[in-house]
Amino acid sequence: MRRAVAGSPTAPPADLFVVLGATGDLMERKLIPALYAISAGTAGETRRLRILGSSRRPWKDEEFRDYAIDALVSGKCAPPAAARTWAEATVGFQSTPEDLSEGLGPLAQRIAEEEARYRLSGNRVLYLALPAVAFPPTIRAIGEAGLSKGPGWTRFVIEKPFGRDLASAEELNALIHRWFDETAVYRIDHYLGKETVQNLLVFRFANMLFESVWNRDRIRHVEITVAEDLGLENRATYYDQAGALRDMVQSHLAQLLTLTAMEVPTNLEADQVRNEKVKVLRSLEPVRPEDVVFGQYAAGTVGGTRVPSYREEPGVKPHSSTETFVALRLKVNSWRWHGIPFYLRTGKRLPMKLTEILVRFREPPVWFFGDKGPKELTANSLSITIQPDEGFALGIEIKRPGHAIRLETHQLHFRYAEAFGPLTDGYQTLILDILRGDQTLFVRADEVEESWRVFAPVLQDPPKPRPYEAGSWGPKESDALLAADGQEWTER
Ligand SMILES: NC(=O)c1ccc[n+]([C@@H]2O[C@H](COP(=O)([O-])OP(=O)(O)OC[C@H]3O[C@@H](n4cnc5c(N)ncnc54)[C@H](OP(=O)(O)O)[C@@H]3O)[C@@H](O)[C@H]2O)c1
Repeated sequence: MRRAVAGSPTAPPADLFVVLGATGDLMERKLIPALYAISAGTAGETRRLRILGSSRRPWKDEEFRDYAIDALVSGKCAPPAAARTWAEATVGFQSTPEDLSEGLGPLAQRIAEEEARYRLSGNRVLYLALPAVAFPPTIRAIGEAGLSKGPGWTRFVIEKPFGRDLASAEELNALIHRWFDETAVYRIDHYLGKETVQNLLVFRFANMLFESVWNRDRIRHVEITVAEDLGLENRATYYDQAGALRDMVQSHLAQLLTLTAMEVPTNLEADQVRNEKVKVLRSLEPVRPEDVVFGQYAAGTVGGTRVPSYREEPGVKPHSSTETFVALRLKVNSWRWHGIPFYLRTGKRLPMKLTEILVRFREPPVWFFGDKGPKELTANSLSITIQPDEGFALGIEIKRPGHAIRLETHQLHFRYAEAFGPLTDGYQTLILDILRGDQTLFVRADEVEESWRVFAPVLQDPPKPRPYEAGSWGPKESDALLAADGQEWTER
């Protein structure tokens, strides 16, 4: 039997993966390694791909190949020889005009040439790895150049942020829908590519033990924390205009909330899962001013290193009122969750990097173990760590050996690294899903808009950010938000 080899008439034709904005940070750190793993056969599944990078700089193929090789070698994804062989066989580059009113004709022509020359399948991914300001003119230019329809399927991929508020998100969706049907649109929130986020569905719906207590009768409150120990990392221009609510809450935290609170879908089809997520967002009232605290970090110490205040960071306006911390109280108005607060918080320059969903169960109705009052009772919390050290821990009360009945809290835990070794990057999962045509892990238009409906009202008259010391868990007002309900953030 003849084996199919690349370029031979029996090999399946490759799909074309076009990245617009292919010379940026995302391409270098995430997309090139993921595309290499998928097309060079080091991911779980191999796909035949031809990759066409594009951006405004006047590069030729060779310069972009060198860039891709550097990304693979410096990221320790491939040895230099393998990286070069792959790049020479797989990668090309087409520059686009600085002024998009000149159109994307040269890119359209190059795509047609690539498809003819390499006998490609005619299937195309168009991936926008651009800053948000470039989204509208690029989408228009793609449509006007006739690139929204190709000889095979065409899938359109766009990175967050999806708008700055409800109106701009609706406008962006309308523009996308002028050229692409929603079934061809893949909005990336990279959190959804993480194994631990996908595992939330399995954890909840394959384990009756948890599903049977996942409700207002057994749960006291839910905390969702996305903490970063880092500061701005050269993103001042974007971040100072966006802030933590736009950058993190409306997207990543909203996704974690919906997956925690959703009902069981009828099946795992993309729209069944996404329908249930949208229902959670629809059952949320827009956030009220009294339910939100903004913070901004002052100088402090993180991980033993002195760090400057937010306003002293390069590129930040000296009197900036951008929030680097948000804490929120949300109520999900559904039968399952009525009356149960969901507390969300995210911030920069917090004591550690941690993304976690923490479910605090109710105390027993009657307490007769004298030495530990309900106040100290930390048992029956479930901590689901999304990153790092992915896994979960269930806190339970144990009798300490000895004559007297004395209680201690211990953790039953599962760690992905212990069971399976290191996890692959979420971008591999997301790109494979795009190539398969599975939209489950991508954000639907109505999901984006419902999320803005809930969170954007806070930004109309934003609360003044309260200062917090870098290396702390945010301003004291964040603790007060929970204290007002007789609750507290679980200590780390
Ligand atoms: N970096 C990440 O880790 C990350 C994570 C999650 C989401 N994202 C999202 O992914 C997208 C790309 O992120 P990135 O960090 O790679 O961005 P980036 O480095 O700022 O920009 C990507 C590329 O876009 C081109 N570009 C810049 N400004 C442009 C403009 N005004 N018009 C047209 N092209 C322009 C640049 O190439 P030329 O100058 O050569 O044209 C640049 O190399 C953004 O939407 C971001 O929010 C990024």
